[in-house]
Amino acid sequence: VKTPIVILNFKTYLESSGEKALELAKTLESVSYESGITMAVAPQTADIFRINDETNIPILAQHIDPISPGGHTGSNLLECLVEAGINGTLINHSEIQMKLADIDKIIKGSKSRDIFSVVCTNNIESSRAAATLNPEFVAVEPPELIGSGVPVSQAEPEVVEGTVNEVKRINKNIDVLCGAGISTGDDMEAAIELGASGVLLASGIVLAKDPKEALLDLVSKV
Ligand code: G3P
Repeated sequence: VKTPIVILNFKTYLESSGEKALELAKTLESVSYESGITMAVAPQTADIFRINDETNIPILAQHIDPISPGGHTGSNLLECLVEAGINGTLINHSEIQMKLADIDKIIKGSKSRDIFSVVCTNNIESSRAAATLNPEFVAVEPPELIGSGVPVSQAEPEVVEGTVNEVKRINKNIDVLCGAGISTGDDMEAAIELGASGVLLASGIVLAKDPKEALLDLVSKV
């Protein structure tokens, strides 16, 4: 995956659901093309197939359940998501945390199907633990800053820097992303200066009056 990268988590906002999810994915695709910055989307499960059908943007699942095929009503099965068109997955987002053994299972399953994994973490210590499992990305997001509009790169730069140092010490091939409160070009520039390979963000773009404008601003300084 070419970095720097912007990953937009669609979460379950109405502004990024259904028809609007497709529209937003197309907007990211065009801004990525115009700016030359890699962009990927993490829509809800029900929107993955259609976005894959109608765009070429890389798609991540928001969550995969640590299950095997069979009787698990209501779960997200890795094999089915891969067929629907995902290129990667978020794992262990603060809003749907997982056990270490389950994170490991999803990372290994992802590798065996050639999709990349982005393990979300809440601090330096959990980032260190995540790095030992060897995902392609670790994305650190202090939970108290998620959705706050206060950027992690400004409020807790030591967490971003500390995560980069620890993760790279364990495996220099793992890229570190940061997220929580990121929305502007200054925020992304600061993240890169702290050693991050990109950002994972949501509300600053999804809820923006003009998401295209917001995305162009986000990548204006890299
Ligand atoms: O996954 C990204 C997210 O948790 C950060 O959310 O709204 O602070 O950009 P937000």
